[in-house]
Amino acid sequence: MKISFIGAGSMAEAIISGITHKKIINEENIYVTNRADDMKLSSLKEKYKIQTTYEMKALLSQTDIVVLAVKPKDAEEALFAIRPFINPTTLIISVLAGISISYIENIINNPIIRAMPNTSAAIGKSATAITYNDKVSQEQLHFCIKLLSSIGNTTIVEEEKLDAITGLSGSGPAYIYYIVEAMEQSAQEIGLEKAMAKKLIIQTLIGAAEMLEVSEKSPEDLRKAVTSPGGTTEAGIRILDNKQVKDAFIHCIKEAALQSKRLSQINKINQL
Ligand SMILES: NC(=O)c1ccc[n+]([C@@H]2O[C@H](COP(=O)([O-])OP(=O)(O)OC[C@H]3O[C@@H](n4cnc5c(N)ncnc54)[C@H](OP(=O)(O)O)[C@@H]3O)[C@@H](O)[C@H]2O)c1
Repeated sequence: MKISFIGAGSMAEAIISGITHKKIINEENIYVTNRADDMKLSSLKEKYKIQTTYEMKALLSQTDIVVLAVKPKDAEEALFAIRPFINPTTLIISVLAGISISYIENIINNPIIRAMPNTSAAIGKSATAITYNDKVSQEQLHFCIKLLSSIGNTTIVEEEKLDAITGLSGSGPAYIYYIVEAMEQSAQEIGLEKAMAKKLIIQTLIGAAEMLEVSEKSPEDLRKAVTSPGGTTEAGIRILDNKQVKDAFIHCIKEAALQSKRLSQINKINQL
């Protein structure tokens, strides 16, 4: 099995890190290229013992999988560059936000899997959504799931759900970081030392996330269970309710999903 990465940025590195650590594909069969950043390629070669090249033929000949990991604006150029070197059954896995399967099919009519990971891929904890066209074989799909499971968990979805997923879990880590910013600032303002506050906040998040995973109770029930009348949590939550924080979050996720849709539309129009 040979895999070739087009693009050597943070998302490509996250996947390379996952598949080398989990030994899903041998290092000698993992190839990567970028546009011009030789230093980055050298560092990937050194760190993961993989193959790097600017020779399209060496990169793509007899490859089973091409992972497209360039910025969306560079998609067209990258697709035209690889087209002459791949065969019709080569699986294309695209992680590009806002680039549809039909956009790729218009240039390369191959088996295509679109994946929407998030930034937690870098530590193997991505929530990755996957969709695919009808040229993808069951074998290719299963292998791709194995591959992407090395950077977190995967969920198969219909392509039209991807904008919503981008707004929810694609951008999701940033929403949590935003809450942590507020928790850190308030910790300082109520007299807690920064390093200690950070440790407490992180463990609080991990504990709450794991509780959500293992408990049969809904988030609302879990919250109510720790909110006793007249207590501290109730006093805090009252402020969140007064400031309509839940509504703001709902609005935030809907807006992010809408923005994903708008960006996808722009890519579609640019291709016409
Ligand atoms: N980062 C995330 O958390 C995340 C989450 C979900 C989806 N994604 C998607 O992942 C994709 C990559 O994101 P990233 O953060 O990894 O970007 P990045 O760090 O900017 O990396 C982009 C890479 O693409 C290379 N490149 C550009 N044009 C090329 C071409 N024609 N041929 C070969 N290589 C080319 C660049 O090479 P040079 O450096 O030499 O220019 C660079 O190595 C994006 O489309 C994004 O939508 C990212």
